[in-house]
Amino acid sequence: MAANKKLLILPGDYVGPEVMDQVKRVIRWMESRRAVRFEVDERPFGGASCDAYGTPLSDETLAMAKAADAVLMGAVGGPKYNDLPRDLRPEAGLLRLRKEMDLFANLRPAVTFDALLEASTLKPEVVKGLDLLIVRELTSGIYFGQPRGIETMPGGGRRAVDTQAYTESEIRRVAEVAFELARTRRNKLLSVDKENVMATGVLWREVVTALHREKFSDVELEHMYADNCAMQLVRNPRQFDVIVTDNLFGDILSDCASMLTGSLGMLPSASLGAPDATGRRLAVYEPVHGSAPDIAGKNMANPLAAVLSFSMLLRYSFGLADEASLIEKATQSILNGGVRTADIMSAGMAKVSTNVMVDVLLKELDKSAA
Ligand code: IPM
Ligand code: MG
Repeated sequence: MAANKKLLILPGDYVGPEVMDQVKRVIRWMESRRAVRFEVDERPFGGASCDAYGTPLSDETLAMAKAADAVLMGAVGGPKYNDLPRDLRPEAGLLRLRKEMDLFANLRPAVTFDALLEASTLKPEVVKGLDLLIVRELTSGIYFGQPRGIETMPGGGRRAVDTQAYTESEIRRVAEVAFELARTRRNKLLSVDKENVMATGVLWREVVTALHREKFSDVELEHMYADNCAMQLVRNPRQFDVIVTDNLFGDILSDCASMLTGSLGMLPSASLGAPDATGRRLAVYEPVHGSAPDIAGKNMANPLAAVLSFSMLLRYSFGLADEASLIEKATQSILNGGVRTADIMSAGMAKVSTNVMVDVLLKELDKSAA
């Protein structure tokens, strides 16, 4: 029997807890059918933590997240918390968690499922077989740079400042993760910047190019401006394998990439820190979708992005590739079988609720493990 693996669940807000309840069923299935055991803890995070402790991320929760082998998060934020002071908003808790755990590499895959081609707003022939991975720098750049703020100018009127800043080492470490991931895939890396107008873009390109020459010359490297990349993503997304970019561009381009696949409700993500001497790295896994307040409490949310985030966790943090594959294959089969939550519904398919989707998934897992 494998040693216990410490898992911290942060369900978060609105649909977060609903989808996490379903993931817990998959976790229990794994424990009852496979030789794995998890030591699971759970803490409020985001708005739920504001309600309980007056802060979106308590020190205790942060300490538990750092001590866990992996963290699985639902989604945070929503209308109930929009009027809180900015530093008490759920989003601030999320940014602080990323920063304090130093989760600088954010992996956002965009993969189309054949069964869901119809759900994409793009033509099926453009997105069929799409499998790209965006590696977004997550702990620096304009979301963290100083100075920042809104000030009143001497002559009246206000002025807002955000600062985009990157050090060489911040660029290098995220590029390194991206090069390594490219090697495990189709060996192609695209680095995205605005080298034509931004100093950070000039440094970004220099550092990535130097690292390529020094350690990764076997990987095919190209550079592209961020605006062109946005256009290419909707024109011909299959030209891409791994894309590495900064925090802001990665935020925007990954939303765009996710929509190519037809549903945010299907996409997992991972945020990773640097490996320590033993190879262990801090990690948070979460669905790409938000807390979806409009459908919260209605048993309508698609639980598959959260379930697939758990399978990503099994693969990257726990080295359980077989278990991860079981979940991924079962997901493919049930989609081929025609079950759909509302977000991916199309004519002739069977519309199911959040928990029924996972009922069907667990049955499929039973079959594959029989
Ligand atoms: C994301 C989100 C966050 C971000 C928000 C909620 C702070 O959009 O994870 O992409 O901008 O990073
Ligand atoms: Mg975003």
